[in-house]
Amino acid sequence: MDVFVQAENRSLTSVDSFSPESIRKKIHLLKQKIGETPLIHIDNVNGSSIYAKLEYYNPLSHSVKDRPAVYMLEGAIKQGLVTSENAKFVEASSGNLGIAYGRAGKFLGLKTLIVIPSVSAGKTYRRIRETGATVEKTPDGYCPLRNERDGAIAKVKDMYLDDPNKIWLDQYSNQDNLRAHMEGTGPEIWNQIDGKVTNIVLGVGTGGSLVGITSYLKVENPDVESVAVQPQRNHHIQGLRNFQESLEPAILRKNRNLIDDWIEVSDEESFEALKYLWREGYLVGTSSGLNYVAARRIAKKNKGATIVTLFPDTCLNSFKLIQEHILNGSLDKK
Ligand SMILES: Cc1ncc(COP(=O)(O)O)c(C=O)c1O
Repeated sequence: MDVFVQAENRSLTSVDSFSPESIRKKIHLLKQKIGETPLIHIDNVNGSSIYAKLEYYNPLSHSVKDRPAVYMLEGAIKQGLVTSENAKFVEASSGNLGIAYGRAGKFLGLKTLIVIPSVSAGKTYRRIRETGATVEKTPDGYCPLRNERDGAIAKVKDMYLDDPNKIWLDQYSNQDNLRAHMEGTGPEIWNQIDGKVTNIVLGVGTGGSLVGITSYLKVENPDVESVAVQPQRNHHIQGLRNFQESLEPAILRKNRNLIDDWIEVSDEESFEALKYLWREGYLVGTSSGLNYVAARRIAKKNKGATIVTLFPDTCLNSFKLIQEHILNGSLDKK
């Protein structure tokens, strides 16, 4: 039986759940279920091949965020941060990390509280609530603005400072976020494509995926080009950031030297690409549209390249947005 079904059939809030050894064992089980997602060839442009890694095959949140969620929880257990059954993990998330945290927390017998921007409400809110996590909303948008006083991150910081039982692992500065991709996603890509990758092209939120994957690939081959992709200002791409309007997360800022190029993709281009991907049968979320546009742009500049990107999640969380902007055709009317 699936480990998550087993978890949901049992109460995991017993004292036994707070034995670090038992949590460690369950984390080991979780890690065996996460990753090893398919890498598929999706396009040929200008003699270059484009591949996408289907991160929606991850079982907790159906997104790339399963990887850092479990690595960060493992890090917390290793550091001895969970000392009582009153411990509660708090995190700011636009959706996917919150779902991954909530489901992992339920399986491990750990309490979770996720703060999401109100723009992610609706389906995302319900999906996190269904995991058993507590969810709070703040009035910010998809991109936390600089100096935001009442945003999700500020709220988590305040709660964490005020309450000794709260544990904030901070995905924006946590090395385990990077490690998940250096030990998982990066080596998987390298092996799945027999080391032929020439460019890794990816949208950035915390920067954990791009920096972690790039760190691994550049050790194997220093000539691999790493391209960071930003959405436009005031965008509608869940999980991503534009750094003209948003603060750069510490894990990205400290590793800027690994990134060779930065490009920007508009919402309109991303949604058009998303419609194409849907027609092709990839029921992916908005950031996959953005990644696909960026990968095609890099292919046009580099003849004969082998370009890898991620399809980070499913369309489940972005359904309302997709309905407004794609099914209702508001973009077509412009
Ligand atoms: C859909 C989606 N794409 C991309 C990302 C960005 O990943 P990272 O935080 O590793 O930069 C996220 C992060 O939440 C996401 O949810």
